[in-house]
Amino acid sequence: MMNVVDSALKIARDDLNRLKSGADVEYLRYSKMGLKIDMTRGIPSPQQIGLSTALLDVSLASDYLSEDGTDSRNYGGQQGLLEARRLFSPIVGVPEEQIVVGGNSSLALMYECLAQAWRHGTPDSECAWSQEPGGISFICVTPGYDRHFAMCEDFGVRMISVPMLDDGPDMGLVKRLVANDSSIKGIWCVPKYSNPTGTTYSKEVVEALAAMPTAAKDFRIFWDNAYVVHPLAEVDDSLENIYMQAARHGHSNRPLIFASTSKMTLPGGGIALLASSKDNTAWWLKAAALRSVGPDKVNQLRQVRFLRSPEKIKELMEQHRQMLQPKFERVHEVFSRMLGDYGVAQWSRPRGGYFVSLEVLPGTAKRVVDLAAQAGVKFATPGSCFPYGVDERDSQLRIAPSYPEMAELTTALDVISICVAKAAFDRLSAIAAASGFIE
Ligand SMILES: Cc1ncc(COP(=O)(O)O)c(C=O)c1O
Repeated sequence: MMNVVDSALKIARDDLNRLKSGADVEYLRYSKMGLKIDMTRGIPSPQQIGLSTALLDVSLASDYLSEDGTDSRNYGGQQGLLEARRLFSPIVGVPEEQIVVGGNSSLALMYECLAQAWRHGTPDSECAWSQEPGGISFICVTPGYDRHFAMCEDFGVRMISVPMLDDGPDMGLVKRLVANDSSIKGIWCVPKYSNPTGTTYSKEVVEALAAMPTAAKDFRIFWDNAYVVHPLAEVDDSLENIYMQAARHGHSNRPLIFASTSKMTLPGGGIALLASSKDNTAWWLKAAALRSVGPDKVNQLRQVRFLRSPEKIKELMEQHRQMLQPKFERVHEVFSRMLGDYGVAQWSRPRGGYFVSLEVLPGTAKRVVDLAAQAGVKFATPGSCFPYGVDERDSQLRIAPSYPEMAELTTALDVISICVAKAAFDRLSAIAAASGFIE
């Protein structure tokens, strides 16, 4: 991002006053339209959900037994049905015996892992994480997923920010931190099509995470692979297998891998999984038995019979891609057209996932969101992609283009662009005036 004063100087020569009044006029025009658009969260559109309507028709009435004879209608089967674990094994790269399928939400599994470590420690811990004398910390790659950070806040886990680079977290910094600070027990990673930047971790980054020495012997990588089969480009990114790498370096207990069918089939009505080492799987199952007599195997069987195979999942995700890709393309088109000339914003062009990360002129993100809300477009919570909700530069905003239909999305993007420009020109004018560049 260009330095604010540099931008002011450059634009001042191009007549900042004219740009500022142009943005004011456009903003007023949109403000009078009575818009009411909400694109705050990245959820699938009704058309995408429609791709899985047939799931609702999968009848088990005459065939409710799983492959190994388990009666899906009854209690038991804490680890999840064999065919569900087998379906996801090649997708997450962990043997089916070390996969647990349970519940409808991967986020809930992450929460439970943290809670279990908090109450009792992990298989490698000397004590419960809650009993560590100086408290514990997690590395949070920023910008990142707000719900990960909210979870840490809820448990009183200190958060240490590490910037996201083009190929994943800044590993130089991560390695230094974990090598020297035994209070650091974990790191949050969304390794493929990361939320919100769309970054896929490089092979080198995954290897480094798997291999790095850590002062905490019970260090865990919370590997939230929410977008494992969610490309937007024709060719899917490939992601190095964290479990195999960690095992190769003698750290097989390090990664806790999560995924779900939330953004494949029906969000909230899907199935979620935890894949990890044998020790971690046993640790999880022991805890799970305390809070449930078994998972919903009926839904597992329905999901598996609908999804069928990794190849069929790929075909379904191609249909999602066809619906999502034009929306992401539209984001780039509108931002390029409306903001491309001024150097006051940058945005990511993700090859997959659900989000675009927008960087506006430092010091204007909150104002952009306020302006857009006043014009009837709700689209982001400033600071939400940072620990404690604080973006010190006040410059990053998350765009979620998946839900609105195209015309509404285009209008929302127009409004957002005008707000970005208006907030920037107002700020630059103020800076320029204070520096004596403009009367
Ligand atoms: C990175 C990430 N992880 C997890 C989730 C939620 O997944 P689930 O529905 O399986 O709880 C989301 C949803 O937006 C997400 O973006």
